[in-house]
Amino acid sequence: MANSDRQKWNAKYSGKAIPSTQPPDNWLCHAVTALIPGRALDLACGLGHNAIWLGRQGWRVDAVDISEVGLSLAAQSATATGCSSVTWIAADLDIYAPDPSTYDLITVLRFLDRERLPSLIEAALRPGGTLVYETFAQQHLTRSDNHLKSDRFTLLPNELPRLFPNLAIEQFEEVDLPDRSVARLIARKPAI
Ligand SMILES: C[S@@+](CC[C@H](N)C(=O)[O-])C[C@H]1O[C@@H](n2cnc3c(N)ncnc32)[C@H](O)[C@@H]1O
Repeated sequence: MANSDRQKWNAKYSGKAIPSTQPPDNWLCHAVTALIPGRALDLACGLGHNAIWLGRQGWRVDAVDISEVGLSLAAQSATATGCSSVTWIAADLDIYAPDPSTYDLITVLRFLDRERLPSLIEAALRPGGTLVYETFAQQHLTRSDNHLKSDRFTLLPNELPRLFPNLAIEQFEEVDLPDRSVARLIARKPAI
């Protein structure tokens, strides 16, 4: 599966121009404004616009994705914007294991892996660390602008907080946005 994911996303990103002007996700920006920058992990970072924005806010970011083509564009984009605080990591999240209790912030946008990601995230967060997670809700499949081919990539109603039984839920919502229907979660690993 991961090999075909890599090929699929490498093909999608091939031939794209360097996305130096792509803005970060608005909701993510709001979600982290009150946090003191430390170490951040952006999972399935794509072309890196959120990781670069976090880097520019003072976070030291590890940004992981399976697509080397996407990561190469992301790295060029970071260089073009003078951002040197992101480490780009080509890895398959089916097997990648970040260091435990390491990150003050973990972000996931528009990616879902029910099997492995929840325990990976709970382990990699530092006590007191924050998870900011947004991805497609099942409702998205009913939209005329739906582009998803499988319900494997969409969340059932109220599913997202249930994936993180060991985190304290601070905010959860399911919203229809102009371009997508999503579930959003902000949760914190209890301090020791
Ligand atoms: C819809 S894009 C989202 C990218 C970015 N988070 C954003 O919001 O723009 C999904 C990303 O997941 C990555 N991906 C897919 N399967 C993966 C896997 N097994 N391990 C790591 N990354 C993966 C793809 O390469 C792609 O960049």
